[in-house]
Amino acid sequence: MAPRWSPDSWRSRPIEQIPLYPSVTALNEVEKQLATFPPLVFAGEARELKAKLARVAAGEAFLLQGGDCAESFAEHRADSIRDFFRVFLQMAVVLTYAGGSPVVKLGRIAGQFAKPRSTATETQGGMELPSYRGDIINGIEFTEAARVADPQRMLMAYRQSAATLNLLRAFAQGGYANLDHVHRWNLGFVKDSPAGHRYEEVAEHIAETLRFMRAIGLTPDNVPQLRTTSFYTSHEALLLGYEQAFTRVDSTSGDWYATSGHFLWAGDRTRQLDHAHIEYLRGIKNPVGAKIGPNLAPEALLTLIDVLNPQNEPGRLTLICRFGADKVGKHLPALIRAVKREGKSVVWACDPMHGNTIKAGSGYKTRPFDLILAEVETFFDVHRSEGTHAGGIHVEMTGQNVTECVGGAKAVTETDLSDRYHTHCDPRLNADQSLELAFIVAERLKREREGRPEPEISMAAGE
Ligand code: PEP
Ligand code: CO
Repeated sequence: MAPRWSPDSWRSRPIEQIPLYPSVTALNEVEKQLATFPPLVFAGEARELKAKLARVAAGEAFLLQGGDCAESFAEHRADSIRDFFRVFLQMAVVLTYAGGSPVVKLGRIAGQFAKPRSTATETQGGMELPSYRGDIINGIEFTEAARVADPQRMLMAYRQSAATLNLLRAFAQGGYANLDHVHRWNLGFVKDSPAGHRYEEVAEHIAETLRFMRAIGLTPDNVPQLRTTSFYTSHEALLLGYEQAFTRVDSTSGDWYATSGHFLWAGDRTRQLDHAHIEYLRGIKNPVGAKIGPNLAPEALLTLIDVLNPQNEPGRLTLICRFGADKVGKHLPALIRAVKREGKSVVWACDPMHGNTIKAGSGYKTRPFDLILAEVETFFDVHRSEGTHAGGIHVEMTGQNVTECVGGAKAVTETDLSDRYHTHCDPRLNADQSLELAFIVAERLKREREGRPEPEISMAAGE
């Protein structure tokens, strides 16, 4: 029997990656205030997402999860949210149309503020300061004042998340995601890239299909799936005081749900079995994820699965694999075999970002697009040979024309990195690179599908 769980039972466990606040009283006051604020998401939505992820686990749908490495207060603008959503929709359309698979859309957004760091301090020009841990904790400027952990930042992060989510809901439900606008999502700088041209072709095919459907009486007015889409939010459950404040009992089921986002995950550095972060995640009923990497043995993975998903509920657990292009082929097969042998239902997703970070000569952290593609390709190869479903991708991306990852068809070079390097943490795919990746994944999905019989029921196109 697992020991009793409560929203604060994590507090008696060892904990990694949590900041030291100068005043515990001030921290407690903010957490108390947050606990009175309205939830950002509704438990029913989290259940709906879990049901969709169950379809992914069963091999009948694909998970697209993506967004900033770290959202920032400074870049909270309507156009960056819109541009992210636009590219995300383009990717989803490519995967649905060219890949022939229903796509579950899950943003790393509206709450993705807290960052685990590899070192507690950072030294610049002989000065040592606490590391930046995300805008919800401290400031990115390299000054003593900015690097102090400030609980007031949690209030700001909550308000920003609420505003971001509000706009995303409006886009998803209010007409922006209408398939009649499939051409318009391709405006801007992406239009002239090779991926943009390819997208135009897909968009034209879809427009043609819509014309046919209209002719037989099916229009966005009478088929809601053509007019709206479902979009969900996710972030790393790192700052547990904040998460606890938004952990609420769902009046319909009587269960505890995290209401700061639909889906929460534990990072690779905070998934120790008997530690605080896994303790927190095991008790909420949302769908959850765990990042896994090369240092996880098959037996340890099975224990982690038992803790996070003791009932083996389909859709509850997503394993977000982040091995690195050179390691995924060596480590993933044994993990898949163990999970298969024990009959565990999981979603296998590939995060091709976090195992492929390098430091460029100029000092910028970057990720070569070739390595990102190589990890995705190997991920699909391994699943193909194990007979399992490569269920999704998890990427750090933006709708902006940034220069953070090197490579891609409209190649970003090492010398370009300094031009538009805006990330608050890890390097992200720009809009072109994101779309290019979507086409490559779509191709793989098509091949995977051609090797298998069609599922009997399929999700509606707009899902
Ligand atoms: C992240 O997703 O930004 C992250 C820190 O990943 P990981 O836990 O895989 O290192
Ligand atoms: Co990151």
